[in-house]
Amino acid sequence: MELGVNIDHIATLRNARMGLEPNVLEAAFIAQDAGASQITAHLREDRRHIKDEDIFLLKESLKIGLNMEMAATDEMEEIACKLKPLSCCIVPEKRLEITTEGGLDVVKFEERIKKLNSNLQDNGILVSLFIDADIKQVEAAKRTGANYIELHTGFFANAFEKGNYKEELKKLQTAAEYAQSLGLKVNAGHGLNYENVKLMHEINGLCELNIGHSIISRAVFVGLKKAVSDMLDLI
Ligand code: PXP
Repeated sequence: MELGVNIDHIATLRNARMGLEPNVLEAAFIAQDAGASQITAHLREDRRHIKDEDIFLLKESLKIGLNMEMAATDEMEEIACKLKPLSCCIVPEKRLEITTEGGLDVVKFEERIKKLNSNLQDNGILVSLFIDADIKQVEAAKRTGANYIELHTGFFANAFEKGNYKEELKKLQTAAEYAQSLGLKVNAGHGLNYENVKLMHEINGLCELNIGHSIISRAVFVGLKKAVSDMLDLI
């Protein structure tokens, strides 16, 4: 399993003072040096954390791949095609949410997502769809021609906190297995932390975990390099 480090929170902190620190690129370099396989950054419609200049600078400067999280909008499609990151993870986006709240409804927006995927892929970009562990969404993701799905682990993470995660873990296992049987590659992310991440070993064949909040939170106390390498030890 590989680790994609989501650095949105570094930008959130920087933007709190509308200044230059902490520097997003420096954070990405530290994560890269600590062994991350990928840097993930979400360019939101409202640019509340990552800005356009951040994402272009990241693409230009990183040795490891950039995974751009984005909503399925025309604006983001255009930016992604210019940027040409290694991959794009398509997520739903609501203006008032604090963070991504659930998976993309691929069943509902199948035709739009299919066109988006094919345009991104024509530009050499791998496409991942962030979806809930739901068989119908997995099937729709396959029909859209996506390369990857990223399973939304938020419900599992919430259940883990309450000590009652078995059912949510089972849903993730079933969805991952089914997706792999269809030829999709499977990543996972959202709400993963230094405790619950161990259970991701119980899902066969996961390629990559995308983790942000818990790593950046721990970095406040131990530094980003150690926070990333501690997570890598666990996965
Ligand atoms: N994967 C996706 C698709 C996300 O939207 C997010 C949050 O931006 C993450 C992973 C990382 O979630 P967390 O910050 O809870 O680790």
